[in-house]
Amino acid sequence: MANRPILFYAVDAMVQAGIEDIGVILGETGQTIQDNLGDGRQFGCQFTYIPQSAPLGLAHAVKTAASYLGNDPFLMFLGDNLLRSGLTQLVERFKNGNYAASILLTEVEDPRQFGVAVVEQGRVTRLVEKPKGPPSHWALVGAYCFSPEIHDIVKALTPSGRGEYEITDTIQVLIDKNRIVDATFVEGWWKDTGHPQDVIDANRLVLEDISSSVEGDIDAVSDIAGRIQVGHGSRITHSTIRGPVVIGKGVSIANSYIGPYTAIGDRVIIEQTEIENSVVLPDSRIIGVPERIDQSLIGRGVTVEGGHKRPKAVRLVLGDQSIVTL
Ligand code: G1P
Repeated sequence: MANRPILFYAVDAMVQAGIEDIGVILGETGQTIQDNLGDGRQFGCQFTYIPQSAPLGLAHAVKTAASYLGNDPFLMFLGDNLLRSGLTQLVERFKNGNYAASILLTEVEDPRQFGVAVVEQGRVTRLVEKPKGPPSHWALVGAYCFSPEIHDIVKALTPSGRGEYEITDTIQVLIDKNRIVDATFVEGWWKDTGHPQDVIDANRLVLEDISSSVEGDIDAVSDIAGRIQVGHGSRITHSTIRGPVVIGKGVSIANSYIGPYTAIGDRVIIEQTEIENSVVLPDSRIIGVPERIDQSLIGRGVTVEGGHKRPKAVRLVLGDQSIVTL
């Protein structure tokens, strides 16, 4: 998102809410996460890394972290969730109330892919995970505050139909025990970035809020409009840039058009290409592409090249789960 890993925004939101001791649950991408997050000093917090044996659900993640959490109340935040207004309101409400749990809700058009809550007189009375017939439009955002009584419930939980230990079911048990589950409603946008299109959308939302700063070189014939950030050592020649756009460090852009809502990672090379609404990760090269690239996610070290070789054909080397629209 605007050249920063989504997890960095999650950590920033926690630190802003006053949380400085953060346990990070690690799955198969654990090493990459540790390499990027470090010990926490750059964020003003301290990380404890907690490997999870298998991705068995959010309640299983709580169980995995039980000895780290001890008897303290805590916030659980899903690292792929992005919230414009942060976590402070949720955390403050939980700290100042006497709740077994506090959850964060937002109204969505199609709640079937989320946990869904029924709220009556400010109190959560029912929760269901990914229901086929949703009882309301209130989706559960991936941020929850819990008192330590959650641990006993998690221990006794059985897996759901999709084979996961659901945090939604755990909170339902609290409700069934007549414990008070409080709800806070999201102000501003929220994005769960589980799918490629969500990443493009979230990048757009983050770019809406950027301010301009140019550290690289832009030649006199390039045409620049709107808010743009250009990192140190980058060079833009004979090109048109329409912000909001973020361009990383050591990037080279020549004879190209970079349109709104595009994030270009460090050391990327773009020549004779038009691109907008897209995310390009570091060290990629995009050269002479004959059509405008739109709504695209381009990974690290990727080469996209237009060619004149005969026979005229599309030549692809694609990784697992790639999506190509021609
Ligand atoms: C999880 C939760 C769901 C919640 C969602 C928010 O789903 O199970 O209740 O609405 O996060 O991002 P997942 O994205 O893991 O399928």
